[in-house]
Amino acid sequence: MQILNTQIELEEFLSKIRKKGIKLGFVPTMGALHAGHIELVKRSVEENDFTIASIFVNELQFNNPSDFKNYPISKERDIEMLESVSCDAVFMPTNEVMFPHDYKKITLDLGILDNVFEGPLRPGHFDGVVQVVYRLFDYVKPNTAYFGLKDFQQCLVIKALKNAYFSSVHLVFCPTVRMESGLAMSSRNERLSMTGKVEASFLYKVLATIRDLSVHIEALDALKYGRHLLQQKNIEVEYLEFANADTLMPGKTWFKKNKNIVLIAVYIEGVRLIDNIVF
Ligand code: PAF
Repeated sequence: MQILNTQIELEEFLSKIRKKGIKLGFVPTMGALHAGHIELVKRSVEENDFTIASIFVNELQFNNPSDFKNYPISKERDIEMLESVSCDAVFMPTNEVMFPHDYKKITLDLGILDNVFEGPLRPGHFDGVVQVVYRLFDYVKPNTAYFGLKDFQQCLVIKALKNAYFSSVHLVFCPTVRMESGLAMSSRNERLSMTGKVEASFLYKVLATIRDLSVHIEALDALKYGRHLLQQKNIEVEYLEFANADTLMPGKTWFKKNKNIVLIAVYIEGVRLIDNIVF
């Protein structure tokens, strides 16, 4: 696997592989890789002639500086994991490569996506994601890019970015990879103790309970019951809400089949965790 640190190295690699008709898959990450990322890479390897992953911890998307400071870094292990699934190259730029002093911020009106759930709670987060993914897509020019549905709202933000600036990039959103306990794979889980992980696995149980209840009771009652279950476990809930899965427009009564998403954000041992379920 080629390790590329500069734009020149990336361009040399791209010019070698780019022949008419080759398909290039791209998996952007912030490192601290886990089975969820690896599933994205595997899917890209299966579906494309070449796959590039990127590892860049993007400070612009951290609204909380201590979250940025505590973000786990495991470059050597990440490289081994990527190699083990036949990733062709990893782009690991520095901040100066990604955002040189003369870089121009792009603008993108995210509409409702900036005003619901993660938007108001993490001011500047989605703008940071948009800036970095714009630059990565512009550098790599992939045919297809892969993202995980655990960050559901981020997937919709990236879809908006694609529609505005990268119409030729095909996006693939992959299902959340879970541990046997139901806990969604996340780099943040590394900051949880064993007890914290057990507590965190309760999130998916609550989401699945709400989904199962949805055939019997209305949305607001099901959510109320879900909040009650979390309260009983003393889990600090930031939100537990439901919305239309296409638009993230919150609702009062369930939407049609497969159009409902229940989203949750909590703090466990000071670590912010999110998850969701679509039904
Ligand atoms: O989901 C992530 O890991 C990040 O938000 C992304 C898309 C790599 C942008 O930094």
